[in-house]
Amino acid sequence: MAINFQQVNFSYGAGTSLEQPILFDITANFPTGQVTAVVGQTGSGKSTLIQHINGLLLPTEGQVTVADHHITANTKEKELMRIREKVGMVFQFPENQLFANTVLEDVMYGPINFGYSRSDAKNAAEIALKRLNVSETLWEKSPFELSGGQMRRIAIAGALASNPDIVVLDEPAAGLDPRGQQELLNLVIELKTLNKTVILISHQMDHVAQIADQVIVMHEGKVAAQEAPEQLFNRDIQWFTDMKLDLPKAGQFAEKLRQQDWQFEQRPLTIKALTDLINSRGTTHG
Ligand SMILES: Nc1ncnc2c1ncn2[C@@H]1O[C@H](COP(=O)(O)OP(=O)(O)O)[C@@H](O)[C@H]1O
Ligand SMILES: [Mg+2]
Repeated sequence: MAINFQQVNFSYGAGTSLEQPILFDITANFPTGQVTAVVGQTGSGKSTLIQHINGLLLPTEGQVTVADHHITANTKEKELMRIREKVGMVFQFPENQLFANTVLEDVMYGPINFGYSRSDAKNAAEIALKRLNVSETLWEKSPFELSGGQMRRIAIAGALASNPDIVVLDEPAAGLDPRGQQELLNLVIELKTLNKTVILISHQMDHVAQIADQVIVMHEGKVAAQEAPEQLFNRDIQWFTDMKLDLPKAGQFAEKLRQQDWQFEQRPLTIKALTDLINSRGTTHG
């Protein structure tokens, strides 16, 4: 299911004296079966942007299209419910939204809300918990007894339980240990192979370089770039300073080499590409 933003403007408190314009003339698209990373400094509007995808926020002007549903300032709650069923939304620190008495009940909540019978909801929840590698021994426990990493996985299972075609993850790796982060990347890759439309907000450019098909850069409420990571991460270094954006680690290292007169056309984005660059120099000049 593809998503399209057409000239979307958004203000918090629209029409009140406290009106705060946040998004400006956003035109962007999120193709089916691709991972789109949304990056940009804190406060650039990333979370506000993605909350338009399931109609939690409505455009003040313009239109968001999700498959064949149109979301505008006037879209009614009944239509939004049909869209929300198709969008699994994982908010920042989703573990703060766990609430049920048991892990299983928490993950069943979404499907029940979308009209599943209890037994269908239980099946759906079990599939999602297995996908997130949550051990069966935890299913009847209170989510509040678990570790932060486990709580995060349960919250994500809850968003995936209704098997949505679109999955939106708002900084899902924040605060996880390296292993938890890698598991998350693996999950994103798995979702992509299932032909889901995946939207990933991330501050970690190594993750973005590794798994994104395209990147949307937000800057002061506007789209500053929408392109493939190879293209984006080969922009002039000054652009990254202006956007207050990092390069992937390998690219940062390569820029240090460039300052020592190393020359290369494509900036290496992975450790492998960086090693190749260093080796090629070693053999030609060594
Ligand atoms: N509920 C709200 N009411 C008013 N302003 C908000 C609200 N939520 C976010 N903002 C403001 O909107 C801007 C963009 O925030 P946000 O979308 O959270 O950015 P990001 O996710 O990129 O950090 C910020 O200036 C923030 O203070
Ligand atoms: Mg945010």
